[in-house]
Amino acid sequence: MLEDAYARKFYYLRLSITDVCNFSCNYCLPDGYHAQHDESFLNLSEIKTVTSAFARLGTNKIRITGGEPSLRKDLPDIIAHCAQTPGIKKVAMTTNGFRMEKDIERWLDAGLNAINVSVDSLFSEQFNQITGTQSFKKVMAGIDKAVDLGFTNLKLNSVLMRQGQQANLKRFLEWIKDRPVEVRFIELMEMAENKDYFDKHHSSGSSLKDQLLAMGWQQQIVSKNAGPAQVFGHRDYKGKIGLIMPYSKDFCASCNRLRISARGHLHLCLFSDAGIDLRQYLQLDDGGLALSEQLIMHIQGKKVSHFLHQHDSGATQNLASIGG
Ligand code: GTP
Ligand code: 5AD
Ligand code: SF4
Repeated sequence: MLEDAYARKFYYLRLSITDVCNFSCNYCLPDGYHAQHDESFLNLSEIKTVTSAFARLGTNKIRITGGEPSLRKDLPDIIAHCAQTPGIKKVAMTTNGFRMEKDIERWLDAGLNAINVSVDSLFSEQFNQITGTQSFKKVMAGIDKAVDLGFTNLKLNSVLMRQGQQANLKRFLEWIKDRPVEVRFIELMEMAENKDYFDKHHSSGSSLKDQLLAMGWQQQIVSKNAGPAQVFGHRDYKGKIGLIMPYSKDFCASCNRLRISARGHLHLCLFSDAGIDLRQYLQLDDGGLALSEQLIMHIQGKKVSHFLHQHDSGATQNLASIGG
């Protein structure tokens, strides 16, 4: 089992399979950022070593992330492999939803159990402006399709912005009244390249939480290792609301996840550093044994919390390269 010096247990791997994305969300890829298009992403054989090593150490959930994971042609093979790894009970993916309408059946057939889609706004113009695309209709069609298929392990991610927050909240609340979907509001996080953007747009989730409680939303009790999101339910709504507030006190006490980047770096925290390059161990044909020894060793270096308020800019990469 993977346990750190603060008695946190890690059953959840976030595996990034590409840095490339076909959207350019303005909080994620501010002007001037360029992904490295050298395509040296983990191949299926390396991914197998990763999943074997983590499963050997008790990991039971894998979330496939990117960049945009659906841009990889071998995505169904990757999903199928993760789903067939002994010990892995849940395979999830975070996507921008662009390919969902076309591909969701293939993903589900391969064994995908849960999907999180980025939908920052239910106003088409705002959505298109944030993502730098004209994809609002296409993404929503994919989500409608998932709901129509009866797929209920669906979450929508919306990054909290100062402007237009109340109008957006109202729309999301209307939208989840009859849909069994969780909408998660995520506090905008400061990354190396987005400081000015952060200062202009960041909004704390705590007043939103107070507002929800005043409206009769009730916080649900979750287990200690359920992850850092707070979840709220309301008897008049089929859907739920989640709040991810990394700037709140004790956010990291329930951290349950480790990250492997698309180039084989271990990130002990979303905000840690450049990561630890473990790629050489991914290329061994040893069923993940050497990698699992590395993981046991490095987990002891995981810090008690992120240092979002202290990091010197330049140290923290944007989320597209770490996988969010
Ligand atoms: P579940 O597996 O469904 O609990 O979702 P998740 O929140 O782990 O996954 P998702 O990829 O949908 O996360 C959405 C965003 O939430 C990420 O891209 C991050 O911006 C943020 N987030 C998720 N996990 C963490 C975390 O451990 N720390 C911080 N600071 N932010 C996180
Ligand atoms: N702050 C908060 N969330 C971010 N994401 C990407 N960059 C940031 C950021 N700077 C999240 C969005 C998206 C997910 C893939 O990554 O929630 O849904
Ligand atoms: Fe874990 Fe880092 Fe996220 Fe905190 S910020 S919950 S330590 S990954």
